[in-house]
Amino acid sequence: MPDKRPYIITIDGPGGSGKGSLAVQVARKLNFHLLDSGAIYRLAALNAMQNGIDLKQESKVTASLEKLDIRFEIGDELSIPYLNDVDVSEQIRLESSGEAASVIARYAGVRKHLLGLQQGFFQDPGLVADGRDMGTVVFQQAKFKFFLLASVEIRALRRYKQLIGMGLSANIDRLRSDISARDERDKNRAESPLIPAVDAIIIDSSLLDLEQVVDLVMSHINEVNELVE
Ligand code: DC
Repeated sequence: MPDKRPYIITIDGPGGSGKGSLAVQVARKLNFHLLDSGAIYRLAALNAMQNGIDLKQESKVTASLEKLDIRFEIGDELSIPYLNDVDVSEQIRLESSGEAASVIARYAGVRKHLLGLQQGFFQDPGLVADGRDMGTVVFQQAKFKFFLLASVEIRALRRYKQLIGMGLSANIDRLRSDISARDERDKNRAESPLIPAVDAIIIDSSLLDLEQVVDLVMSHINEVNELVE
């Protein structure tokens, strides 16, 4: 009997590796739900900042999550994040929000609080989840796990183009050093560090465009699904 149960695809990797765009494309092709877990950490950080909390104060940041009011609505291209009923799409994409998210993502209480919320995104007919610990912690049972890499240089360039495309200002040297600093923090933290799951397929996207990475991932998924069926 072919296995038609809903399943999960995880895509982990450092910031700017292209995992977000890849996740959107794969979810679209399969008609699956999408979880951008980084957006949840960004929203949690924004919420703490809006409450005037110093992000270095772990217990206050963790306590602020008790009143976290977030939701996502389906937009034309991407899902729209709301914090306290306000559309914060632009705000959470700022480098400063990514940095703030990375700071609070080190706290065990924060990760624990956000775990169930993220797991709730898994619904019929399936889920594509992107982040840092999707395959290692949040969805260890995922049927397919991918880990996307790209050089710091390429990631800084991609982020630069993305920010300029959004009409925002950007400085390539600053982006490069911010990306390296965030990598260090995400990889070296005690709680759920950024590492590939032992059963993840590692893809270096430095010399590939989005379409090529999507093709690679889809051909792997289709091949395994055909073999199983
Ligand atoms: O993917 P992103 O750039 O939106 O993530 C922002 C930060 O949030 C990232 O630097 C670390 C944290 N994060 C995390 O710790 N675990 C996740 N699953 C996703 C993001």
